[in-house]
Amino acid sequence: MREGKILRYGWRFQKGDFPDACNIEFDDSKWETVRVPHDWAISGPFDQENDSKIISFVEKGEKKQVKWTGETGGLPHAGKAWYRLEINLEKKESKRFRIEFDGVMNHSKIFWNGNLAGFWPYGYSSFAFDVTDYVKNGKNVLAVFVDNKEHASRWYPGAGIYRNVRLVIMNPVHVSHWGTYITTPSVNSEQATINIKTEIENHTGKKIPVELETHIISPEGKIVASKTNNQIVEEKFIFENHIDIASPALWSVESPNLYTAKTVVKVNGENVDCYETRFGIRTIKFDSEYGFFLNEKPMKFKGVCLHHDLGALGTAINKAAIKRQLNILKEMGCNAIRTSHNPPAPELLELADEMGFLVIDEAFDEWKIPKGKNGYNLLFDQWAEKDLRAMIKRDRNHPCVIMWSIGNEIPEQKDPYNGAKIAKFLYDICKSEDPTRPVTSAINIWEDAIKNGFVNILDVIGWNYAPCNYGRYHQLLKGKPMFGSETASCISTRGEYYFPVEEEPGLKRSTLQVNSFDLSYPEWANIPDVEFRAQDDHPFIMGEFVWTGFDYLGEPTPYFEEWPSRSSYFGIVDLAGIPKDRYYLYQSRWADKKTLHIVPHWTWHGYEGKMITVQCYSSWDIVEIFVNGKSYGIKKKLPKSLLNRYRLIWNVVYQPGELKAIAYDNDGNPVKETIVKTAGKPSQIRLIPDKKTMKADGDDMIFVCVEILDEKDVVCPDGENLVYFYIEGPAEIAGVDNGNPISLEPFQTNYRKAFHGKCTVILRSIEGKKGTIKLVAQSRSLKEAEIKLEST
Ligand code: GAL
Repeated sequence: MREGKILRYGWRFQKGDFPDACNIEFDDSKWETVRVPHDWAISGPFDQENDSKIISFVEKGEKKQVKWTGETGGLPHAGKAWYRLEINLEKKESKRFRIEFDGVMNHSKIFWNGNLAGFWPYGYSSFAFDVTDYVKNGKNVLAVFVDNKEHASRWYPGAGIYRNVRLVIMNPVHVSHWGTYITTPSVNSEQATINIKTEIENHTGKKIPVELETHIISPEGKIVASKTNNQIVEEKFIFENHIDIASPALWSVESPNLYTAKTVVKVNGENVDCYETRFGIRTIKFDSEYGFFLNEKPMKFKGVCLHHDLGALGTAINKAAIKRQLNILKEMGCNAIRTSHNPPAPELLELADEMGFLVIDEAFDEWKIPKGKNGYNLLFDQWAEKDLRAMIKRDRNHPCVIMWSIGNEIPEQKDPYNGAKIAKFLYDICKSEDPTRPVTSAINIWEDAIKNGFVNILDVIGWNYAPCNYGRYHQLLKGKPMFGSETASCISTRGEYYFPVEEEPGLKRSTLQVNSFDLSYPEWANIPDVEFRAQDDHPFIMGEFVWTGFDYLGEPTPYFEEWPSRSSYFGIVDLAGIPKDRYYLYQSRWADKKTLHIVPHWTWHGYEGKMITVQCYSSWDIVEIFVNGKSYGIKKKLPKSLLNRYRLIWNVVYQPGELKAIAYDNDGNPVKETIVKTAGKPSQIRLIPDKKTMKADGDDMIFVCVEILDEKDVVCPDGENLVYFYIEGPAEIAGVDNGNPISLEPFQTNYRKAFHGKCTVILRSIEGKKGTIKLVAQSRSLKEAEIKLEST
């Protein structure tokens, strides 16, 4: 039977190039010991020279140059480095050994006992090499060389072996790597037909009679159908089975039912391999007039784009951290993710399957025309086909994946000769690996891409920032289903408010922060309301993917020229995982949950008697607000206006005390009340964990929200207190953050300043160590806080 080990602990790591480090006998005893997944750059320090570059442009006929900083997060991600891991193995002649990498950033070379097993340059692809010929009995050394080029990315790419690595040991007859492909060609409520292709490899050197058993296991864990095949296999053979099951439990966003296909391979009556593939039974349909259908039911994409970094954890993948992100998004009403602009970690897709999210799996941000100095264009000719096939083969059994995206804002959209040609080349690769899903691409050079036939290649068109053109493009491109692949790009900093409140396209402030009234955006973008209106007025649009769900490291628009801006302002949720105001705007539109949220806070020293703008994000159309009991009138959402169609706005006179909003139903009955109070001086700390218990597996995490409160438990919007964290018991601090995009404090330490009254501390369990964990938070002149958590 196969044995799969995650290679997590005991890796030795050193930055720099050591050509001999691939050899078994190389002395790495002075190297740092790290765990993998590992992102060498996230521990910093931040420095503008880490990614500064000179940008040249022409303005009013004059050549100009500016210095950009922070584009990739200002962290030391560029450079060469080595990882080494000693593995003790019992080598049995008959066994096969395969090393699997979910992703290495990037240009990795993999050595086994000094032999080059393989090379994979694209940091987002998963890949595997057979190392059987190099394995010895006893001590083996796996060495990985990484060459992370500078100016290769438009965001923080992370650095090193940032995803999981597995060693798989198999018998000579086994299911190939990514060797199953499951489709459901016919589905109705009474019956589903499951089509399973299973590729078997035979490394014995002789023809062998193979028996293949396939069992379908229901979401409840029962075997509901089985099939057996017999075949003489030479080197490779693909078995194909059609299996019918009755009353299938369909996979949907609300009920993400998952089946498992268990493949048992037998030779001479003996089980030699067992392989499990999880899948879902569901139908998808894309209609140019009526939009998207899941299981024949119409459904809008309430989606967000996500980059792959996990804030303070960097890009080192962690399933609990991704799950927390998805929980926060689910609570907002989000039902779809676009993995901008690259194949995600496999864990994201596993969670999307389990939690019920639709996913657009995206391959590239660049083809042959560069967006930067060392980008993917340098790899495209040799690697694009391999990378695209790797993505689709790895991901095509996931029910969550509904479309393949061959690229984001590809400059070839403008190229009348090659654009459509390359798009067709990639399109055909997608279809050859998986004809069941449509192919899309995120289009931003709209007119050219229409004129030169680029968009005609696509099954479904994704428009980036085109809400004003939906009607016209629908007329022009009859029969093409379309959606907003990137929308809004509203920017803000959590907790930062500036008056007067007005739309602020492209505005920069000396604070290097962005107003949280959700009216700021770069020139090419919009406030969320513009997209909402376009979606409502054009029901054929299948929905939207907001740029972005979470803030991410790098791309500090609009402050590329201003250090220390080092992370994005685009997130609906900040980098520390704390929702910004517009989280509630989306929630009011997307979620069943009934939201009544007030912007801003109500602690305005020096503003007594002055006018202040107040906004409400409400699930209800009618809201009244009061300052210390005095009504400032009832407002109703106005379908004909833009700014009062999705949010409600008042101007009121500030007086300390309380600001109250009451929402009414359409019969005028009060249905919900929200109050914000003026905070006094910071006096205490509150700790709110996202869960109370974690698994003692060395990987699970608890995210604790830290709040600075006055003595009456009101969050202090100006709270900037420096908080220290101490742990007793089996856990360690994996990171701290406060969501401030200009903070240069380290992420991996035990202290953090609060930012607008809040910060986050992330705890990780220790493998095999169970027990009670005490987390204590202390800050000068504040009452300390303590919570107890469990690792089980
Ligand atoms: C888009 C691009 C994204 C991001 C975004 C910011 O044009 O596709 O990657 O840069 O702009 O608004």
